[in-house]
Amino acid sequence: MKTQPLAQKYGPYALVAGGSYGLGAAFAEQIADSGLNLVILARNKDALNATAARIRETYGVDVIAIAVDLANFDAVKKQVLALKVDIGLLIYDAAYAPIGPFAETTEEQLATAAAVNVKAPLLLTKLLSTSMIERGRGGIVLMSSLAGGQGSPNLATYAATKAFNTILAEGLWKELTPLGLDVLVCTAGAILTPGYEQAESSKPAPGTLSASAVASQTLAALGKGPVVVPGPVNKLGRFMMTRLLSRRAAIGIMAKNTEGLS
Ligand SMILES: NC(=O)c1ccc[n+]([C@@H]2O[C@H](COP(=O)([O-])OP(=O)(O)OC[C@H]3O[C@@H](n4cnc5c(N)ncnc54)[C@H](OP(=O)(O)O)[C@@H]3O)[C@@H](O)[C@H]2O)c1
Repeated sequence: MKTQPLAQKYGPYALVAGGSYGLGAAFAEQIADSGLNLVILARNKDALNATAARIRETYGVDVIAIAVDLANFDAVKKQVLALKVDIGLLIYDAAYAPIGPFAETTEEQLATAAAVNVKAPLLLTKLLSTSMIERGRGGIVLMSSLAGGQGSPNLATYAATKAFNTILAEGLWKELTPLGLDVLVCTAGAILTPGYEQAESSKPAPGTLSASAVASQTLAALGKGPVVVPGPVNKLGRFMMTRLLSRRAAIGIMAKNTEGLS
């Protein structure tokens, strides 16, 4: 183990929702490396158990693996309430992105996006923050995206759910900081994860970062402000899109970037 500050601040357990591969697994590894025990959630049991075993063996921490669909919050709540451990850090990583024209997106896809990207982070934050507030310490990280900074054609629903996470985290940052909680939203640009590689057929966008770079910059920013934008290219991009350009121009630029998506 390299450092201890995360464990001291947020221990003894962190929960990573979507922690079996990609960015979620990078978060889980770095959190374990700092000495915190883990609860990791994902749907695919085999991938989840393999990640849990690898982290246990590498970092010597306890890892509880819960195979559950975050779209089914009642099942998530039941499993989390059954745990006999104190969770002091929540990382909500998982997301569902219906990609392509809204006209061709099904009602079921829209409902899944709302359940995984909005309902679950909101209600998990409520569930876990209650005991964090009682203890007077804790950390909450919600994942957002540069796509959520403005309307994003062909990704409209996903982008809107990411905007929800940004605004929720900003409000909770101000509200919960005086109660001892650190709240942060990570507004990420492209990240080299299996999810991104599946959606993106061409070469990676400028400023694309590794999952481990995004996880480390995010964890380092926790407790230092409401928003982190990993990577200088993404910081510049966000500044341009949200502060310099008109909404109409920013939406137009997004439309050019997303027009090939289907
Ligand atoms: N990748 C990018 O370029 C990018 C850019 C900006 C922002 N982001 C944000 O960063 C986060 C990670 O993005 P990512 O898509 O690349 O994913 P990822 O980190 O590769 O994570 C996917 C993880 O979430 C789990 N998961 C997905 N849907 C789930 C569900 N319904 N229930 C339970 N677990 C679920 C997956 O396991 P199972 O599949 O086994 O369930 C896996 O463990 C997302 O919030 C995304 O919006 C990503």
